[in-house]
Amino acid sequence: MSSAELSVFIQALGVHAPARKLTNEELSSMVDTSDEWIKTRSGISERRIAAADENPSDMGAKAAAQALTRAGLTPADIDLLIVATMTPDVPFPSTACLLQAKLGLRRDIPCFDVSAACSGFVYALQVGTDMMRSGAYRHALVIGAEKLSSVVDWSDRTTCVLFGDGAGAAILATTSAKNVGVLGNLLGADGNNAELLHCAAGGSATPATPESIKAGKHLLRMNGKEVFRHAVRVMSESCERVLAKCGVKSEQVAWFIPHQANIRILEAVASQLNVSMDRFPSNLDRYGNTSAASIPLALEEAWRAGKIKHGDLVLIVAFGAGLTWGATLLRWHEPTR
Ligand code: ACO
Repeated sequence: MSSAELSVFIQALGVHAPARKLTNEELSSMVDTSDEWIKTRSGISERRIAAADENPSDMGAKAAAQALTRAGLTPADIDLLIVATMTPDVPFPSTACLLQAKLGLRRDIPCFDVSAACSGFVYALQVGTDMMRSGAYRHALVIGAEKLSSVVDWSDRTTCVLFGDGAGAAILATTSAKNVGVLGNLLGADGNNAELLHCAAGGSATPATPESIKAGKHLLRMNGKEVFRHAVRVMSESCERVLAKCGVKSEQVAWFIPHQANIRILEAVASQLNVSMDRFPSNLDRYGNTSAASIPLALEEAWRAGKIKHGDLVLIVAFGAGLTWGATLLRWHEPTR
């Protein structure tokens, strides 16, 4: 069989969310905000916050362990690991290498990170899918893991209310069956708008200094209004483009699983696509924006709730810092429980 004939599908999903919940009420005692403002403007009620010693590699390893158990696989079965994160444990080595060691994966496999902020999971899924289609790998782990609480400015009410921590993992497998798993995808980026959502210091251009840290330059800064505007446009266009590419109409899609950034962004995208919000499952109220972890968290929740059925068309779509965006259309192949 030629490798071009292989389809790539999600064989199993796993998730991990830190135990600590931070509610809007608690945030209201930290900055000048209110439960009502946060809920109305974003749809968020609470978010999870990782413990000081709970890093993306730890959360990702727990999510991956659950996915492995559900798939009936062992760490030795994994022959490719890709981690999407904008909050790596350390600048180097990659979070993937740290996670490989924690999970006890084989040493003869590629392990690397993908940096595409909130679009990270969609980017990593496409990279993994394309590598799998070559026929060289049987099982890949694609993980989104984030500790956004470590880069949020807890005195900035315009951002600190939005983000949370967590991880989600997908095991990719191949099949010779046609028209299943990943049917089509697209990715895009616009570095001219990099400053809309960024961290100004801490990299090689501006290494962290006592002054830069005092000025909060190592923390996340965002132009919320502009990001909102771009998000609605690129998520709607990405959905339309990937559907056109696959010759599928939006009414044929059973579930849209968007990056969980803000409920108003999701409502605007649903409205642009003329799709009911009933087909846009959301867990924003309980997790906030978990960046690269948000899509696998939402996908796993919708699958576990029995919403997503074998054969359903599922469209995942994301946008994030970069700016970056991406969309993937899947024909759901029932993952093992
Ligand atoms: N509590 C109370 N008031 C607040 C808060 C808060 N937490 N934050 C801002 N305000 C105030 C502002 O200061 C402003 O007051 P003013 O009118 O006196 O100046 C007022 O509320 C309105 O602020 P806006 O910025 O206009 O509020 P908006 O309706 O645009 O909502 C928000 C802000 C929620 C940030 C929205 O713009 C948004 O969701 N943007 C997209 C963010 C996003 O999705 N980011 C993730 C990108 S993905 C990634 O890669 C990480």
